[in-house]
Amino acid sequence: MRFMRAVIVGSGSEIPPNAVTNQMLARIMDTSDEWIRERSGVETRYYVDLGTATSDLGVAAARRALAEGATAPEDVDLVVFATMTPDYYFPGAGPLLQAKLGLRNVPCFDIRQQCVGFLYGLQLVDAHVRAGLARTVLLVGAEVHSGFMPYSAANWDYLYGRSDVPPTPAEHAWNSRFRHLTVLFGDAGAAVVLQAQEDGSRGIVDSVLGTDGADYDKLYVPGTGFKHRPYTDPEQFARGDHIPVMDGRYVFKLAATRMVEVAQQVLARNGLRIDDVALVLMHQANRRINEHCQKALGVPDDKVVHNIHKYGNTTAATIPLLWDECARRGRIRPGDLVLLVAFGAGMSWGATLVRA
Ligand code: UT7
Repeated sequence: MRFMRAVIVGSGSEIPPNAVTNQMLARIMDTSDEWIRERSGVETRYYVDLGTATSDLGVAAARRALAEGATAPEDVDLVVFATMTPDYYFPGAGPLLQAKLGLRNVPCFDIRQQCVGFLYGLQLVDAHVRAGLARTVLLVGAEVHSGFMPYSAANWDYLYGRSDVPPTPAEHAWNSRFRHLTVLFGDAGAAVVLQAQEDGSRGIVDSVLGTDGADYDKLYVPGTGFKHRPYTDPEQFARGDHIPVMDGRYVFKLAATRMVEVAQQVLARNGLRIDDVALVLMHQANRRINEHCQKALGVPDDKVVHNIHKYGNTTAATIPLLWDECARRGRIRPGDLVLLVAFGAGMSWGATLVRA
């Protein structure tokens, strides 16, 4: 029997044009470069121009990934789009990407596993390829988090230095209410092309994924859902229920524990040790979480790459963005064993081993 593996043959990413530093954010809320840098590691994040949506970032990233992988769009036979910030409530971003790229009428999944979306996507792709259901797959992670930012249009202008009108005291207080969350996130898109290859020496090796929905309310959006009738209304907006709620300390501790556990599980299940791994790419939510995991797993500095300082937390895009950066810089060589690890809202977590 032929044994098929999903091999990453190309990657691409799209960073939107508007760089926003910590100092710029301090213009519209009570925060500081020092606090953001020390507590999270973020220095800059990028936001889209008004009107650019998640599918646009995904399309630009996917075009680069297809070119890099020398793959014709008409060869793609499956799309998996991981995002928590789709252009519309429905349909998902996958169908929009299919149409914009002019792909055949292939199945397009949208998956909503937030910061672990890319790893859940890899397992979905792996299962399709092993089952013989797909041969050429586009897996995309993209987010436009700037839509979650609670700032008024005038405050956006002041943030970018396009106006001299500072926030009113009420606007400043409103913006500051969400500061523990908003300063962390950025917009970005990244994609990989995977091809079914018979060899068996390269490709997705294994994944361990997990979820504990009991903690859903530690990181979630309380409003604009179908628990409400109508699902959105001015009262929800007035309360700020359309902005995510996060118990930062709780999530921090859980992420630091689960990421270590799941990484150890996937290694043990495959008879591997951390020394066998050439590179560890971790979800970029907080540099301190990742430093803790690195230490607990015993990974040397030269096997870990961070980019949270440049882009902030881009949720489903963080890991493919890291992959793309590393591939471009020659930090991922054919045959390297790469360990991917993530934790996020759900609560969900995962670790995936990929032989490049
Ligand atoms: O990707 C999805 C998963 N998400 C995560 O993994 C995020 C996990 N959590 C974290 O990364 C951290 O908990 C945060 C970066 C969100 C917060 O760091 P922290 O060290 O846990 O700070 P804290 O929430 O305990 O807040 C400490 C203080 C508070 O003031 P008081 O009560 O001590 O006076 C906050 O009000 O820092 C204050 N604070 C801020 N100050 C300036 C919170 N946000 C800010 C801010 N600027 N942006």
